[in-house]
Amino acid sequence: MAVALEVLNALGSKHDFCTESTTHDVGGIGIDNHGEALPSSTLSACEQADAILFGSVGGPKWENLPPKEQPERAALLPIRKAFELFANLRPGNLYPELADLSPLRPQTVANGIDVLCVRELTGGVYFGQPKRTETLENGELEAIDTMVYRSGEIERIIEIAVRAASLRGGKICSVDKANVLETSVLWRKIVTERVRELDDSIELSHMYVDNAAMQLVRDPNQFDVLVTENMFGDILSDELAVICGSLGMLASASLGTGKNSMDLPFGLYEPAGGTAPDIAGKGLANPCAQVLSAALMLRYSFGLEEAAASIEQAVKETIRAGFRTGDLAQGGESVGTGEMGQAILERLT
Ligand code: IPM
Ligand code: MG
Repeated sequence: MAVALEVLNALGSKHDFCTESTTHDVGGIGIDNHGEALPSSTLSACEQADAILFGSVGGPKWENLPPKEQPERAALLPIRKAFELFANLRPGNLYPELADLSPLRPQTVANGIDVLCVRELTGGVYFGQPKRTETLENGELEAIDTMVYRSGEIERIIEIAVRAASLRGGKICSVDKANVLETSVLWRKIVTERVRELDDSIELSHMYVDNAAMQLVRDPNQFDVLVTENMFGDILSDELAVICGSLGMLASASLGTGKNSMDLPFGLYEPAGGTAPDIAGKGLANPCAQVLSAALMLRYSFGLEEAAASIEQAVKETIRAGFRTGDLAQGGESVGTGEMGQAILERLT
């Protein structure tokens, strides 16, 4: 996060803007300092802001808490819900320079990967009610989660996917399990209707999630924009992350229904990889995902496309110049977080 804030500051003077940021506890440190993973002071600071640049929230120290109190479930899910952050954009980019890091066959990834995963983030089985565990009369335990989608929730996520696709390759693959799930049957129907209404030129296809998981490893570049419901997106976006080489490179944007003071989408921007507790505090983490998340923030919540592109270019140049944090080094020579950050800063234009 320190690197990302430095990048924002340095870039401001070059592109004539100024970001003002305040820092607040969330996740594990929220539990330690305030007794809750999402302290109300943090939530109200977020309400005052134009965007949230989010760090990472978990760690072994809190792993033995009851599941409902763990940082991920008690901070990440409620903050998404509080701001109705329904659209999660996870760009899967593999630079050709890092093709060696992908577990896929060299010929499959020689030219890199460029796929955008659009995940519905506030509906489906993660939020549906009822959600509970109870003891039955015969003494057995029974747990229930509920997968539920309304047409409006599907419409708004598909609108985001259409907008994203029209700025890229113009192709959308919608992923569901319509051969089994009611929610997926509705999903497919709404997606089909809405895409036709919004933009006839979009090339729309549908794929069952099991097949999509397989196609992603077989030939990821057959996809341009993948759009899917919450849990499928959770799973497929991790798959996309690993075929792109390292979780340390993956940024994400979660856009809400609300607008900020500039009349642009309010959003939360976070690295998609989560914490790396084994290296926490050692100055070894790859800062790229956080820095690239800041770029997405400038693009979507501040309307600063040029500045966003400048960050993305600087990260690309840094990789091209051979800088590698431990996660990217494959046992070769590596640099720490600070040095990687410095290399990015020097390449900002
Ligand atoms: C993610 C994470 C979260 C999710 C967890 C930590 C609740 O896996 O952002 O993908 O499932 O959404
Ligand atoms: Mg996940």
